[in-house]
Amino acid sequence: MAVERTLSILKPDATRRNLTGQINARFETAGLRIVAQKRLWLSRAQAEAFYAVHAQRPFYNDLCAFMSSGPVVVQVLEGEDAVTRNRDIMGATNPANATPGTIRKDFAESIEANSAHGSDSAENAATEIAFFFSTIEIVG
Ligand code: CMP
Repeated sequence: MAVERTLSILKPDATRRNLTGQINARFETAGLRIVAQKRLWLSRAQAEAFYAVHAQRPFYNDLCAFMSSGPVVVQVLEGEDAVTRNRDIMGATNPANATPGTIRKDFAESIEANSAHGSDSAENAATEIAFFFSTIEIVG
């Protein structure tokens, strides 16, 4: 397995309930390192740009409204097989389908307010990391 980087976002439902530390403890316990991090309040336009790949999906408008409804924490996770490992720790997108012990099963409020986002491939991770971070902000 190669060392990879992936983009992680702690969503507004997580910041509102003061869960960022509990969620990040799961990543760190599983061996992922937070090598870049910042707290932002995305504008509607920024949320739309980040999720542009979903622009044709029926949930796009609601998703962008939610993602700009409060602060988020954007971060880069680094480790062996980080893309897949992060997704395993998060669990299924819909918390109703997530395995017990995963972030979304334990913390998510709904499929939209599902506490965390993670890149779904190494290729998308590179694009998503570059959306939020410059090279000098990532310190491995
Ligand atoms: P995320 O990993 O941030 O990527 C897109 C988000 O859209 C997803 O998590 C969900 O929070 C949200 N979403 C809302 N409705 C749906 C749906 N029906 N299918 C997939 N994603 C959805």
